[in-house]
Amino acid sequence: MIQSPLNYTGGKFKLLPQILPLFPQNIDTFVDLFCGGGDVGTSVQSNKVLFNDINSNVIGILNTFKNLSQEDIFVAIKDIISHYSLSDVSTYGYSYYNCNSSKGVGSYNRESFKRLKDDFNNLQEKTDNYYLLLYVLIVFCFNNQIRFNKQGKFNLPIGKRDFNAKMQMKLSAFIERLHGINCEFSSKDFREVAIEGESTFVYADPPYLITCAAYNEQGGWSEDLERELHIYLDKLHTHNIRFALSNVLTSKGKTNVILQEWLIHNPQYICHHLNYNYSNSNYHTAGRESVSDEVLITNY
Ligand SMILES: C[S@@+](CC[C@H](N)C(=O)[O-])C[C@H]1O[C@@H](n2cnc3c(N)ncnc32)[C@H](O)[C@@H]1O
Repeated sequence: MIQSPLNYTGGKFKLLPQILPLFPQNIDTFVDLFCGGGDVGTSVQSNKVLFNDINSNVIGILNTFKNLSQEDIFVAIKDIISHYSLSDVSTYGYSYYNCNSSKGVGSYNRESFKRLKDDFNNLQEKTDNYYLLLYVLIVFCFNNQIRFNKQGKFNLPIGKRDFNAKMQMKLSAFIERLHGINCEFSSKDFREVAIEGESTFVYADPPYLITCAAYNEQGGWSEDLERELHIYLDKLHTHNIRFALSNVLTSKGKTNVILQEWLIHNPQYICHHLNYNYSNSNYHTAGRESVSDEVLITNY
């Protein structure tokens, strides 16, 4: 199993041990319809993977990681870090920057990060350099998130960490895996992704209707899209194409009623309840209303 170096919100890495055994064995093309950071598509056994996400920046980063050599990527990232005089704790340690591990390197990097962000936001062309700068912004920003404002400008503040040894290891393993698999990328709305072939398997991990994430802001996901996804999956079912859908039925006292009703109307689908909170070890301490019912719904 491979963890995305994007530390993506809603990333499925922690759930992979529960999700992967529920996938079928003989997958020709694996379609990761809402791939995000790519945790799932890079960890699955198949002949081919299609990574799709409506977020063209995420797809651009994955595509750059696939197309450039490991060495070129690391050299470029280290060049960006030294050009902007950002910290490099893995080489020099925290004390070199007058910082410590608990407070992190945010205060040291604040001005450099701002210059990097301004330069990035003024770029006109989406080249490999654009995506590598964006990756460095994600590494240094608050909680490693990706967020653009309505004007299309990256707008997250500085975070605590830098391109530390753990991030480097994650990136290296991820690039190696991407280079080793047969994969393609597309940046489309899920409704535009045409699916063919009975040995194709579609994994759908949409934004969750009843939880929050940056990609749900600015009208990102809606009840209408939730229903359209169900129609899309029903069509796959009528064409004998297997699918699995990740979601939460309940979370923090809210219920996804649309999902609940879809399941009631489609008794042929199987709802597997996953133990997300348990694996996060807060199951016993959290109140019942804050527990999420994380599910994987399959049509096989
Ligand atoms: C829960 S995240 C996926 C996380 C991913 N499985 C991972 O492990 O990193 C949901 C993704 O759906 C994407 N998305 C939102 N609306 C979409 C749409 N209409 N079509 C395709 N992708 C969409 C978002 O950009 C986001 O990356």
